[in-house]
Formats: sequence, C-alpha cells, structure tokens
Amino acid sequence: VRSFQQEKNLSNKKVLITAGPTQEAIDPVRFISNHSSGKQGYAIAKAAKELGADVTLVSGPVSLPPVDGVHTIPVTTALDMFEVMKEEAQKADYIVMAAAVADYRPAKVASDKIKKTKEETQIEMVPNPDILAWIGQHKQENQIVCGFAMETKDLDKNAQEKCIRKNCDLLIANNLKVEGAGFQTDTNVVTLVSKNTLKHLPKCTKEELGFLILRTMKEIEEGKSLC
Ligand code: CTP
Ligand code: CA
Repeated sequence: VRSFQQEKNLSNKKVLITAGPTQEAIDPVRFISNHSSGKQGYAIAKAAKELGADVTLVSGPVSLPPVDGVHTIPVTTALDMFEVMKEEAQKADYIVMAAAVADYRPAKVASDKIKKTKEETQIEMVPNPDILAWIGQHKQENQIVCGFAMETKDLDKNAQEKCIRKNCDLLIANNLKVEGAGFQTDTNVVTLVSKNTLKHLPKCTKEELGFLILRTMKEIEEGKSLC
C-alpha cells in the first residue's frame, strides 16, 4: 500500500465517488433513509486525492467534514444522485459507488405534515432507479467501475451475481453480520469480487481499504486479475 501511495499513481485520473445514504421524503418533516455514515466513501475520496487524482464526491447527507481539495456535490434523494451521476459519469475514468442508495421512495411526498390518526397506516413506495446498473450499462471503454454490496447472508453468491448483473469491474462486498464491518464502524471486513473471482480480506480500516480499492482498480485497468 505504501509504495502505491508514494507514487501519486492516479495523477492523470478523474475519479468519481458516491458516499452516504439518500433520504426519501415522506412529508416536509419526515424521510426514509438508512444507517450509512459515508465514512467508506469519504475515505476513498481522501485516498484518491492523496494519490493525485482529480476527485468528485457525490455525497448524500452525512455529518463528516468535507475532504480538502475534493469537488463535493451534495445530494439528498436517489433521483438527485441519479441526475448528477448521469452527467458526471461521462467525465470519469474510475467510478466508485459507495453510497447506500434507497431502493424505494414514497410514491408521493405530502405537501403538508401528515397528521396522526388512530388508524393503521401505510406508505406506498415506488422503486428508485439503480444508478450503478445504469452506469454499468453505459460504461465507456476504459472506464473502471466499482460497486458495493451489503449482504446479511449468502454473501459470495449474492455479491457475484450483483457484480455480473450491474456490469461492475469490481464489487466490494460487506457482510453486515461480521464484527468490525458495516455502517458506523471505522473498520471493514470485505470480500473483493469480480465477475469470475472472489477474494476474502482480513479486517482493515476504511482508510486502508480506500487505497486498496483504488490500487485494485488500477490493477484491473492494467489487465491483472484479483489474486
Ligand atoms: N445502488 C445504486 N442504486 C440503487 C441501489 C443500489 O446505485 N438504487 C448501488 C449501491 O451504491 C451499491 C450497489 O448498487 O454500489 C449495491 O447495493 P445493494 O443495496 O447491496 O444492492 P441492490 O442491488 O440494491 O440489491 P438488494 O438491496 O436487494 O440486496
Ligand atoms: Ca439496495
């Protein structure tokens, strides 16, 4: 990792990263979201900057300080993120989708605060676009795309299927059930997945993983496989 860092290995690259959760409004005071802290995406942005890349970070609502020297575009909803990504993806060499994008959004956003009643209630939800799948479908020649996957069971099988379905060059699979992995921690336990290989990694910090992901993307670009 160290020699890779010292060599400013990404100085001619444009790196586009998403981070954090999305928030899907129900009414003016409420939303549906998830536990993503944004730490992993921000760590990748910081690593890419240190490696000399031109970095754009599309960030959902997080409580992390901005990363120096990184162009940060704040977004709230999955639809916002999709619009920004369709535009930005055209300019990127490496794309890393670390954001935890909400799979659904409320079918309509109430313009006034919804009042409580004594009745049971339901919120009708509609699917959000899959941003990573769109990027995979529209991948340009020489573009390297890295997705993430959050699984609680059958990690290897589910993650590899996701990698293939979304046309990713690399997928970082998180097992939420393992200690030291997941949303709010400073460490992660992941499996690197390509369309035909799996590599289980020991626990590492999100900072270390940031560098490792970028180095792996560079190796994939140079035609190496994951082993
Ligand atoms: N993702 C995305 N757009 C969505 C949902 C997910 O771009 N609407 C991206 C995430 O940023 C991540 C990857 O897809 O890089 C996998 O997310 P994950 O939630 O693990 O997979 P899903 O395909 O949404 O499948 P499921 O939640 O059913 O496991
Ligand atoms: Ca999902």
